[in-house]
Amino acid sequence: MEFRELLNSKAELVNQALGAYMEHEQNPQAKIYEAMRYSLLAGGKRLRPAILLMANEICGGDQEQALPFACAVEMIHTYSLIHDDLPAMDDDDLRRGKRTNHKVFGEGIAILAGDALLTKAFEIIAVWDEMGLPPERRIRAISILANLAGTEGMIGGQVVDLEHEGAGMDVETLEYLHGLKTSALIRAAGTVGAVLAGAEEKELQAIDAYCYHLGMAFQIQDDILDVTGSFEELGKPIGSDAENHKTTFVSIYGVERAGELVSEYTKKAVDALAVFTGRAQVLVDLAHDLIGRSA
Ligand code: IPE
Ligand code: IPE
Ligand code: MG
Ligand code: MG
Ligand code: MG
Repeated sequence: MEFRELLNSKAELVNQALGAYMEHEQNPQAKIYEAMRYSLLAGGKRLRPAILLMANEICGGDQEQALPFACAVEMIHTYSLIHDDLPAMDDDDLRRGKRTNHKVFGEGIAILAGDALLTKAFEIIAVWDEMGLPPERRIRAISILANLAGTEGMIGGQVVDLEHEGAGMDVETLEYLHGLKTSALIRAAGTVGAVLAGAEEKELQAIDAYCYHLGMAFQIQDDILDVTGSFEELGKPIGSDAENHKTTFVSIYGVERAGELVSEYTKKAVDALAVFTGRAQVLVDLAHDLIGRSA
């Protein structure tokens, strides 16, 4: 299968499962599902769940066991976007090609939709099922996800981002920030996929290093696209970083050098996969596919 086809097939699988998780009773709180579904099924790239499923497969896992975790990572990612767009944060009006959650449902429901997606993520993976996943793998995976989504992960990065708005920062702090706000959840995806498959420790470390560097490249490209991209391709407004006086790799180095850094981080990501001796080709293809992405 061509790499793009493979990626689309993973996205399709995840989209269907996410849709099923959004089925609900017509009870008095049904509005929350409407708001969750609105952002969750608005057509993101599904990068994180794809990485989780790919890492899982490479390490010999079972896709059916991994799928709820892939959905959980995407729910957490979508919640982070809903909150990231709020007036109190980046104050953006468009996301995934549509009006942002708070623009449609109001700030109160948007905050709750984010909270609900975060909660639902852990609800769907903290279950006892008959599918044969060893409980110690499940618990380790849940623990990794909680850690890397939280104060030492994505939330930590968002805090540093917010606290430095308008104040500037040095490049070490910016690397730290990107490593948390973006790489952390990508690392969670990769390492959860590997843990569920019962990967060896050295494979786990390799996937983690790959995801860290891929996440850095991904966020630097996101910073570039905030300057050079278009709403039509990105589905979100451009110029948001400058408007919010954010320090980015582009504001420090300019577009050209930032582009070189995307390539350098991508190379480091690919190099980290050496222990797989060719078995991780799909992750190599993914890294190369993301260089120079326009969406
Ligand atoms: C956007 O993530 C936020 C960043 C970390 C750059 P994506 O670019 O993966 O957004 P979707 O999921 O495709 O909408
Ligand atoms: C967001 O970074 C990272 C998150 C944890 C949501 P950005 O603020 O640059 O993401 P976009 O550009 O709004 O998607
Ligand atoms: Mg932001
Ligand atoms: Mg933003
Ligand atoms: Mg951005």
